[in-house]
Amino acid sequence: MKLLLSVLAICSIQTVSSTFCFWNTGCPYKYFSNKTPYNSVRGDIRDSVVKLTGCEPVSIWGLIRHGQRNPGTEFGKHMKEALVIKEHVEASYNKGNCSLCAQDVENLLNWQVNMEMFDKPFQLTKEGYQESEGIGRRFKQAFPKLLEKLDQHDYLFRPAQGAWMADSAKGFVKGLGNKDLTIQPPKTNFDILSPYDTCKKYITDVKGNPETYAPSVRYLSSSEYLASKDRIQRRLGINYILTDTNITALYDLCRYTTSGLENKLSPWCALFTTQDLKVLEYIADLRHYYKSGYGTPINELLGQITLTDLLKSFKDAKSGKGKKITSYVTHATMMDMVYTALQLFKDDEPLSTSQRKADRKWRSSKLAVFSSNLMAVLNKCDKAVDDYNVVFYFNEEPLQSICREGVCTWQEFEDKLSPFTETNTEFCHNE
Ligand SMILES: *[C@@H]1O[C@H](CO)[C@@H](O)[C@H](O)[C@H]1NC(C)=O
Ligand SMILES: *[C@@H]1O[C@H](CO)[C@@H](O)[C@H](O)[C@H]1NC(C)=O
Repeated sequence: MKLLLSVLAICSIQTVSSTFCFWNTGCPYKYFSNKTPYNSVRGDIRDSVVKLTGCEPVSIWGLIRHGQRNPGTEFGKHMKEALVIKEHVEASYNKGNCSLCAQDVENLLNWQVNMEMFDKPFQLTKEGYQESEGIGRRFKQAFPKLLEKLDQHDYLFRPAQGAWMADSAKGFVKGLGNKDLTIQPPKTNFDILSPYDTCKKYITDVKGNPETYAPSVRYLSSSEYLASKDRIQRRLGINYILTDTNITALYDLCRYTTSGLENKLSPWCALFTTQDLKVLEYIADLRHYYKSGYGTPINELLGQITLTDLLKSFKDAKSGKGKKITSYVTHATMMDMVYTALQLFKDDEPLSTSQRKADRKWRSSKLAVFSSNLMAVLNKCDKAVDDYNVVFYFNEEPLQSICREGVCTWQEFEDKLSPFTETNTEFCHNE
């Protein structure tokens, strides 16, 4: 036994460097902020559906973010330019200046680019379609009676504007397993799915205002970001001095070429340590926090407008005029605003621009992942006391932080959402 132990000790000393490789790590960091594959965070509604004795689901209302899509034009351009860094890494490795593991370098060199990623900016990927389809399929299985047969007046499906929204909606409907369902065309003017698009105040004061992004830019001079940047440069050992834009492009290559459905890691992620990935994730958390979260007060109001549709939808269902399912596909911005309106994932202190708090609640890697979703299920119960209740699901798990076990009594639901009916878009047009 003693001998064996000492052999093991020698082994572990000799292999110490390759136990820190990316390719063989047992627990790769899978959270890539708003480009996180859905499979990295999702639950499974078939396992987690809350079954309440004496109650029966009568209506579902859901908001789903579009699935994985190709990078946009600008980010795609930077990623394409950054591909050459692969050659810098090869040269540096051959000179003995690169401290990446041999297998990680080999995987990177063998990696083949799929140019479609750059040629079709914003297009929904096959994986993105499958993410949406999977959600539809699992909901159908979790609510077989409710979703088995859908007549024209039983449902409403609508995407926000954009081809990748429409394609995600198609995936979701395909998953529901009924070919004949009609998807409404996106609205071209005001829509509760993206009220910020027609809100002048939001466009000028928030989206188009550099101040909104200033906190995330400020974080680029924090000691933890600078340490990461320095670490990446030194590990690669390349002569090419990486800019912040280059690091973002490399991060994008890592996250856009990771597959959640096939559980396939991207060799580009080997350029980063887990700590680096956490730092990069936080930059996006800050952007989301100010652009569509608690950092800017009007975001909450815009989320409230969307939620009035949920209240109306379930009130209609209670009066027998409702739909079995209402489901919308929209942007991360809208998802963030809705969570903000519901006071979910709210930290006591605003996010700091100098230091990442590890246990913060506001995490873009949960709230704004590809295909992230908020689903509410209205149950009709036979008990007179609690005749209806609403169960909330977040990424296919009961949303514990909204009501106990994710189950809100009708009263709790109404108390939460009714005040939002007072909110209108007048503030959008005030100077
Ligand atoms: C690095 O970023 C700079 C801009 O900061 C850009 O001009 C350059 O092309 C990038 N290089 C690579 C290899 O991506
Ligand atoms: C390798 O490192 C040495 C010492 O730091 C440096 O002089 C040399 O330029 C580096 N070569 C490359 C290809 O980065």
